[in-house]
Amino acid sequence: MPIDLKQVPVLVIGAGIMGSGIAQVAAQAGHPVFLFDARDGAANQAKAKLITLLAGLVAKGRLSDDAVEATLARITPVASLQQAASAKLVVEAIVEQLAAKRGLFQQLEALLSDDAVLASNTSSISITAMANGLQRPGRLVGMHFFNPVPLMKLVEVVTGLQTLPEVADAIGTLAKAWGKVPVTARSTPGFIVNRIARPYYAEALALLQQQAIRPEQLDACLRTAGFRMGPCELIDLIGHDTNFAVTESVYEANFYDKRYAPSLVQRELIDGGLLGRKSGQGFYRYPEGAPPLQAKPPATPSPSTRLLVHGQGAIADQLASAAAGLTGQPPQRHLDSAWVGLDDDIGRLVLTDGRSADAWSAASGQIDVAVFDRLASTATGAGPRVLAYALSARASSAWADQAPAWLGLLGVTPLEMQDSPGLVVGRTQAMLVNEAADAVAQGVCTPDAADAAMKLGVNYPQGPFEWLADWGAQGVIGMLDALDAYHRGERYRVSPWLRRRAALDRAARPA
Ligand code: NAI
Repeated sequence: MPIDLKQVPVLVIGAGIMGSGIAQVAAQAGHPVFLFDARDGAANQAKAKLITLLAGLVAKGRLSDDAVEATLARITPVASLQQAASAKLVVEAIVEQLAAKRGLFQQLEALLSDDAVLASNTSSISITAMANGLQRPGRLVGMHFFNPVPLMKLVEVVTGLQTLPEVADAIGTLAKAWGKVPVTARSTPGFIVNRIARPYYAEALALLQQQAIRPEQLDACLRTAGFRMGPCELIDLIGHDTNFAVTESVYEANFYDKRYAPSLVQRELIDGGLLGRKSGQGFYRYPEGAPPLQAKPPATPSPSTRLLVHGQGAIADQLASAAAGLTGQPPQRHLDSAWVGLDDDIGRLVLTDGRSADAWSAASGQIDVAVFDRLASTATGAGPRVLAYALSARASSAWADQAPAWLGLLGVTPLEMQDSPGLVVGRTQAMLVNEAADAVAQGVCTPDAADAAMKLGVNYPQGPFEWLADWGAQGVIGMLDALDAYHRGERYRVSPWLRRRAALDRAARPA
């Protein structure tokens, strides 16, 4: 039988950052809300803060006086759980500790009616473990909001081993009624967003550890790819300690799978008390933030008697029209080439497929090679559009000038980095897709849920499966295999889901 939570009395427990946001959203959707906090006076303080916050929204013309008055009238701070015994839904947002949460739910079972639904806003604790010891484990579910609750659309509805489907369905329906977009996730470490997002931080930290690039350059590359914030500025904002704790918990929960291993670079920052914005320094110093990018504007490519543009697609076309603009005639094209880029009199310029410039140099016998990063055609990130590239170790000085000059014709500021497989964007996107593929293979979520979660939970420009559709499974696998061949170890192993997807793509292609 479907469970109807429409307009039921809600008990929000924990009146901190998340709990007060959840109380606000529930009250705005018309529910009577009890707000409880173990700390004396905290629930009243949270309501007082909400009064100020909502008054601010009235002043800005975003809400009417009447709506605010009605919302506030629905929120009742309570000094004991007994006062909220009529609640039919609990949303728990207390301290992130299993024993505390489990104990609280056991207490609630004794207090509330048998048909009440118990939801936890935990960001990392297993719902299955939290339900262990409850009399009605089927009625416990995860309802994972994102901060700030009133603004972020995503809610992960997290099901433990024993969660009843009708309980998860009811929470999904309720989240929609609250103006949110619910996605269903099986209770596994990190759920959807905190799991799939790991490589966004991890690949950046790995590049920094290799001394391949500077933080402000890395951030600029990923902003150009459409991410709202680069990984370094984002970790500085989240706090290195908090970000490290999530990484560690996912790592430990996966039995120390090397793919999720934390970073020494981050450990060192934490040891030094450089926690990010909140401590005044992390990757950057605050309030100044990232130093300005040191990038010189590219020159015009020197004339070439031989010009051959390889491959198809937007980048190949852009290179061809840039070459035509330079010489006054369309360049030769090798449309069936296995790679994208160009050959000129001096060297070879290649869109990264995962292999380093040196690997390309060894394979082609060319001394002068440059590889450049993936460039999103839809990129609208803030700040200058930059594109990372790397030169082969023995590249001539003429090629060191010529390669960035070609990239400048793509409308970007070229940024030289150390030769490293997959450069910045390619490597990051490939690992995000790989993680999402594994999550789907393990039944954590559907591809659509993963895409929605990453776009709405962490503002990614596109979902991992949208990148996959654009790039093709074989391209992603090539990138990961190249990373794996270079670094060795378990970190870059390809998800079997992706290999199967590539096989299906091959089978679907006309002979
Ligand atoms: P917070 O520290 O701002 O608030 C927690 C509140 O719970 C405090 O007011 C505290 O007095 C109260 N509390 C602690 N133990 C209690 C108990 N046994 N009974 C009643 N009240 C108790 O924490 P925040 O950030 O609001 O996080 C709460 C939960 O939400 C945690 O599980 C956290 O992992 C999760 N979460 C946090 C997000 C964030 O960005 N801060 C995002 C998504 C989930």
